[in-house]
Amino acid sequence: MLSSLLSFILLAISYQATTSSALPSHRPLSSKPAAFFLAGDSTTATQSSGGGGWGDGFINTTLHNGATGKNFGHNGATTVSFRAGGDWSWVLGNASASLPSYNPYVTIQFGHNDQKPAANISIAEFTANLVQFVKDVRNVPATPILVTSLSRRNYENTTDGPRIVENLADVTAAAINAAQQAGCTYINLNQASENYLNEIGPDDAYTYNLNPTDYTHLNDEGSIVFGNLVAVLMNQNVTGVGEYVSPEEEIAEAISEGVYYFPEGCEGEFC
Ligand SMILES: *[C@@H]1O[C@H](CO)[C@@H](O)[C@H](O)[C@H]1NC(C)=O
Ligand SMILES: *[C@@H]1O[C@H](CO)[C@@H](O)[C@H](O)[C@H]1NC(C)=O
Ligand SMILES: *[C@@H]1O[C@H](CO)[C@@H](O)[C@H](O)[C@H]1NC(C)=O
Ligand SMILES: *[C@@H]1O[C@H](CO)[C@@H](O)[C@H](O)[C@H]1NC(C)=O
Ligand SMILES: *[C@@H]1O[C@H](CO)[C@@H](O)[C@H](O)[C@H]1NC(C)=O
Repeated sequence: MLSSLLSFILLAISYQATTSSALPSHRPLSSKPAAFFLAGDSTTATQSSGGGGWGDGFINTTLHNGATGKNFGHNGATTVSFRAGGDWSWVLGNASASLPSYNPYVTIQFGHNDQKPAANISIAEFTANLVQFVKDVRNVPATPILVTSLSRRNYENTTDGPRIVENLADVTAAAINAAQQAGCTYINLNQASENYLNEIGPDDAYTYNLNPTDYTHLNDEGSIVFGNLVAVLMNQNVTGVGEYVSPEEEIAEAISEGVYYFPEGCEGEFC
């Protein structure tokens, strides 16, 4: 009787030792890994002949500890077409379906197409559409992250040398305004990407072009660099993602020093 009690206690102790050493001690047992659902236009989307943004580079190279991601970026999308065409309900549906196993986040980045005159979307309407996206995400319930528009790589010559043309200032200000109205976390990708592009200059910046004359969309290497920039910014502003999102050290260092970086060969674990 005594010996069986003793062996039970020993078994219980060794079981506890095994489970506690198998789990990182800083993670509460109840926490689920993060899942990122990326809503946006072609500057978020998967690389294709018609577009390519930061989304796949972010998903392929910065997620850890069981975190996952899915890119819903749609070439040519505005805040109006993304909802009307059904993409938005897919984003919400996928975020909702992930709930049993994940803690879902939805990134929201629009503006490149909304600002085009042909879209006929006023800044007030754009802002209201973003605020509504935030509300919809919270209803899932998931965590919304507003993202200001990735900078285009068009430069103008100034007395200080070549500088990025700030042609996304209107939609950037509107996205920040929407974040403030909705009390939503945002990352200022427009500012951070512009700063980096000003540091490295046009010749290096153009190596991220999807094709030599496309100064808007990113090739795979550009996706990795700017996807890692998004990870850097998320670590600064989004609480709770630190364990799941971490930029590659070399890229984060190059970005913080304003030094050009071009991923050589294959960087992502999925390539
Ligand atoms: C998830 O998104 C895909 C498109 O990528 C869509 O076909 C599917 O219906 C979505 N799932 C849900 C539950 O909404
Ligand atoms: C632009 O949108 C406004 C407001 O929705 C509408 O009244 C107007 O007819 C639209 N113009 C064009 C050219 O579609
Ligand atoms: C800026 O100046 C450089 C060097 O003189 C020139 O090659 C380039 O085309 C100019 N860029 C613009 C946008 O004017
Ligand atoms: C984080 O959010 C604050 C506003 O709350 C903003 O001023 C700042 O630019 C954001 N930082 C990054 C890295 O995007
Ligand atoms: C991301 O991974 C997919 C799947 O392996 C690959 O086809 C794609 O080229 C990668 N893209 C980037 C930008 O890393």
